[in-house]
Amino acid sequence: MTAKYIPEPFRIKSVEPIKILTPAEREQKLRTACYNMFHLAGEDCYIDLLTDSGTGAMSVHQWASIMEGDEAYAGAKSYFKLMESAKDVFGYDFIQPVHQGRAAEKVLMPLLLSEGKFAISNLFFDTTRAHVILSGGRPLDCVGELAKKPKQRAPFKGNMDIAKMEETIRQYGLQNIGVVVLTVTNNAAGGQPVSMQNVRDVAAVCRRYGIPLCIDAARFAENAYFIKRDEPGYSDKSIKEITREMFGLADMFTLSAKKDGIVNIGGLVGVKDKNSSIIAGIKVNVINNEGFITYGGLAGRDLEALAVGLQEVCDEHYLRYRVGQIEYVGARLDEAGIAYQSPVGGHGVFIDAAEMFPHIAYTEFPAHTLAVELYRRGGIRCCDIGSFMLGNDPDTGEQLKAEFEFTRLAIPRRVYTQAHLDYVVDTIIKIKEDAKNIRRGYRIIWEPDLMRHFQAHLEPII
Ligand code: F0G
Repeated sequence: MTAKYIPEPFRIKSVEPIKILTPAEREQKLRTACYNMFHLAGEDCYIDLLTDSGTGAMSVHQWASIMEGDEAYAGAKSYFKLMESAKDVFGYDFIQPVHQGRAAEKVLMPLLLSEGKFAISNLFFDTTRAHVILSGGRPLDCVGELAKKPKQRAPFKGNMDIAKMEETIRQYGLQNIGVVVLTVTNNAAGGQPVSMQNVRDVAAVCRRYGIPLCIDAARFAENAYFIKRDEPGYSDKSIKEITREMFGLADMFTLSAKKDGIVNIGGLVGVKDKNSSIIAGIKVNVINNEGFITYGGLAGRDLEALAVGLQEVCDEHYLRYRVGQIEYVGARLDEAGIAYQSPVGGHGVFIDAAEMFPHIAYTEFPAHTLAVELYRRGGIRCCDIGSFMLGNDPDTGEQLKAEFEFTRLAIPRRVYTQAHLDYVVDTIIKIKEDAKNIRRGYRIIWEPDLMRHFQAHLEPII
C-alpha cells in the first residue's frame, strides 16, 4: 500500500510552539530521567507520542462550552448536559462521571472482585490490571492468537478467544470469575479493534454463565469506525448506532474520556440497567473517592467539554482522518520494511521491537530500548508496551515475558501534521539501519511494586 494522507477535516486556530534540543542536551535529559520516558519533561520532547490520553486538541466548540461550566457542587447544569450526551451515545440509563479511566476502575472493580476471584479480558490495560489486583483478584488474558502475530494482517485482531475464555472459566471455576472485561479497542494488543460478532459471542458466554460483562471503552468510537468499515452489515450504520449496539450487549462500562472523549481529563462509569444493585455501591465509592455524584472529581467546565467531545468523536469525517493518519505511518513503515502490529490500530502504531532488535532479550527490554533511541536521535517520546510495562509476577516476583515487545507511537488526536509524522518515520528508519550497533538494552536499578514503568529507574547495559 502506498502512503496516502487523508487531509485534516479542520483548520488550525491556535498553535503551541515546540522546540528541539541538541543531541548533547537530549543525552543529558535521558540521564537525569534515569532512562524512564515518564521522567522526561514534556517541553524537552519535540514530538510527544507517549500517549494519546488527555493530549488531544479540543475544538472551538469545546473551548466555548468551557465558559458555560456550571460549578454548582450538586446538580450543576453541566452535569445534566453530560448525562444527555452520554446517554445518547451509549444508550445506558446510569452514567457516572469520574475524573479519569482508572478512577472508574477503582470505583467498580472492588464491587465485582475480592480475594480469590479472577477477571478475564481480551488483554487488560495496565491500570485495569492493577485495579483487579488491588481488589484482591487476579487478571487472566484471553486475547486471540492472531494478536500475537504482528506481521499477519487481519481485521479485528483485538478479539477475545472465545474457546480460551470458556476453557479459562472452567479451569478457574465459574464461581470464582467476578467479571469479564472487553477492552475496545484492545490497547495492549496494538489498538486492535474487536468485532461486533466477538462482542456478541463474549456476551452470550457471559449470559450463559451469569458473569457480568464490562466494556473498557476508552477508544469506543475508533472501534465502532473499524466495525463500520470492515465488518459485513455495518457500512450503512452510523457510529452512534454501532456504539449503542455494542454497549447494548454488555452490562456496564468504564471509560477513560481522555481518549475518545477528546478531553484533557474525565471518565465515566456506565450501567445499562438502572435497577442494578451495583449502582448503590458505585455511588458510595464515588462520593468517598471522587466527589459528589453530579461532578465525580471533575469541574463543571470539564463536564461541558466532555459532553461536546463525545458527540464530536462520533463524526465519521473525523474518524476517517484519524485512522487514516495512523494508516499513513503504517504504509510508510511498510515501504521501509519495518515490522509493526499490522494492520495499524486506531490510536497509534506499535513497532515490533523484538523484530528490530532480535539480539536483545526480553529481560533487557527491546521495546524500551527503541523508545530511548527515538528520544536520543529525534527528541521523540514514546513508550514500551512489552515486558518492561508488564512487570513482575505479583506472586513470585519474577519478570514476566510479554506476548509482544511493542514500542508504541500513540498519536494524540488533532495535534500533529503529516510533516511531523514523516519526521517520526524518518527517524525510525535511521534507527533500523543502525539496529545491529545497538547491542544491549536496559536494566532496572529501582522499581515500585506495581505499575513500575511509570516510575522505575533504569541504566543502559554496557
Ligand atoms: N483503559 C484503557 C484501555 C486505557 O488505554 C487506559 C489508559 C485506561 C483504561 C485508564 O485510563 O489513563 O484515564 O486513567 N491509557 C493511557 C494510555 C494512559 O497511554 O494508553 P486513564
